[in-house]
Amino acid sequence: MRTNPFTLRRLRNSLLTGLVAIGLCWVTEVGRSRFYDVSFYLGYLLAGMILFLAAFNLRKKLTTFRVGTSAGWLQFHLYLGLLTPVVFGLHTSWAWPNGKFEQVLAGIYTVTFLSGVYGLYLTRKLPRFLTRLPVELIYEQYDQQFHSIKNEATSEIRASIGMSGDVSEKYVKRVIRFLSRRRTIFYYLWPTIYKRRRLINHLRSYHRYASAEEYARLERLEQLIARRDDYDFHHALQWKLRAWIFGHLALTWSMLALVLMHLVLVHLYRGSY
Ligand code: HEM
Repeated sequence: MRTNPFTLRRLRNSLLTGLVAIGLCWVTEVGRSRFYDVSFYLGYLLAGMILFLAAFNLRKKLTTFRVGTSAGWLQFHLYLGLLTPVVFGLHTSWAWPNGKFEQVLAGIYTVTFLSGVYGLYLTRKLPRFLTRLPVELIYEQYDQQFHSIKNEATSEIRASIGMSGDVSEKYVKRVIRFLSRRRTIFYYLWPTIYKRRRLINHLRSYHRYASAEEYARLERLEQLIARRDDYDFHHALQWKLRAWIFGHLALTWSMLALVLMHLVLVHLYRGSY
């Protein structure tokens, strides 16, 4: 049986990260037993690692002068990121800091780390959902699709009004409301097909009263609702990825600013060397 090369790579990188972590713990122990100020040097190591992690943003922007492959940078980013809690723990002697400023710094580091882990999950899971959808969407073209589906449905509905008296008017309002409204922030955070299912079930409840012509229209509207819902879902998942990157970056820059202030404060306290 052949092992998947990605599994092998993951195994190799995890093993290497684990070994580096064990090595760092050992060096710290030895250093502390000899009364070296290991925390000071670990602080610089952590700051360097964070700077390197943040440099991933610059690498993504550099398209002309490339330094290493994107895939290589991403792999390094992930494993270096996963190593930071060990260096952070050793730096703070596995204790939550007492000072207010240090607590804010530790808090922002923790949230940035957790956002990275969450992003790893998102970037692995969402593309699989997107490829399973029956529609494709360029993020910026969502509005175009929104209006085109709404206009198609309005023409269908206009044609059906008056054809079967009361029957069509009963569902028209709900269909128009669904197609003219944007989704709420809750949908973007947690997209579901609940509304689509409810509306389609509602439309289907009219099947038995409908003439052959109106039945065809109901089916057409059902397809439009499903298509609009697929675009909404696509849009929401892409938005989630963008919002996550934005948050991860905002946390990164805030943390870098605090790290810089922390370095200045530490040197002020220690005096010159
Ligand atoms: C703790 C310090 C960390 C910092 C300062 C940091 C910083 C960054 C930066 C600057 C980017 C580039 C964003 C962009 O321009 O698009 C990025 C992307 C990313 N980070 Fe982190 N990160 C950290 C930890 C982590 C961790 C622990 C993980 C997961 C194990 C992680 C996973 C990711 C992923 C998946 C991306 C997006 C890669 C892509 O474009 O597909 N990060 N991070």
